[in-house]
Amino acid sequence: MNIMMIGDICGRPGRNTAAHYIPILKQEYNLDLIIANGENSAGGVGITGKVLEELLTMGIDIITTGNHVWDKKEIFNFIDEENSLIRPANYPLDTPGKGYYIRSIKNRKVAVINLLGRVFMPPVDCPFRAVNQILTEIKDLCEIIIIDFHAEATSEKAALGWYLDGKVSCVAGTHTHIQTADERILPQGTAYISDLGMVGPYNSILGVDREPVIQKFLTGLPTKFNVSMDDHTLFCGIVLQIDDHSNKVSQIIRIQRQLKN
Ligand code: FE2
Repeated sequence: MNIMMIGDICGRPGRNTAAHYIPILKQEYNLDLIIANGENSAGGVGITGKVLEELLTMGIDIITTGNHVWDKKEIFNFIDEENSLIRPANYPLDTPGKGYYIRSIKNRKVAVINLLGRVFMPPVDCPFRAVNQILTEIKDLCEIIIIDFHAEATSEKAALGWYLDGKVSCVAGTHTHIQTADERILPQGTAYISDLGMVGPYNSILGVDREPVIQKFLTGLPTKFNVSMDDHTLFCGIVLQIDDHSNKVSQIIRIQRQLKN
């Protein structure tokens, strides 16, 4: 089985770039499942019903989120009904939506769990304890378990990767929008990468126009950020190749492509 995880899709340039590469990579890697982080997909922050529909239509099967999940208020109208859209599992009890989703593919059950980091991030419940609780519930039901750990600090992401080594198929970081070149398979078989990177404008600062960000650093004054509409874009993600007999990840392939329109 081949599973692609796509990094944070940033605004319209990100959606257009994802729509361009998904069919190409689907064919190239014979993909069975596509997971993408969509928390920046609508105007750079949050997700709307229309954008969700667009992401599902382009072939994404499961959409994860993170700290910006609630930024477009209309999400409260559909997050409880939409199974393929998940939010971090370590939000407090009774938060709308679900923290994980299980889908059957090729007679296997694949679970995708979304977690949020706590280092340099808004306060949430402990992601380590939250994932432990979920694993107790689902580990005997699922052959493949994938984690999107939406977090800022590489230390926290690496710690979760090692903590879960041998317990899940993959721990992939999202949120920083910068792809890390540390993809590997840990000794007990868990695939790991600190950050998948972003799908969005290339000549930007993490997807937004450069000048307001530079001004913010120069002056410290509040500034409004807009998704850069540069048509030179970047596509970042990974492909996990999973052995059909052992259900273990045999390879983690890092993907980074540039599109110049
Ligand atoms: Fe984020």
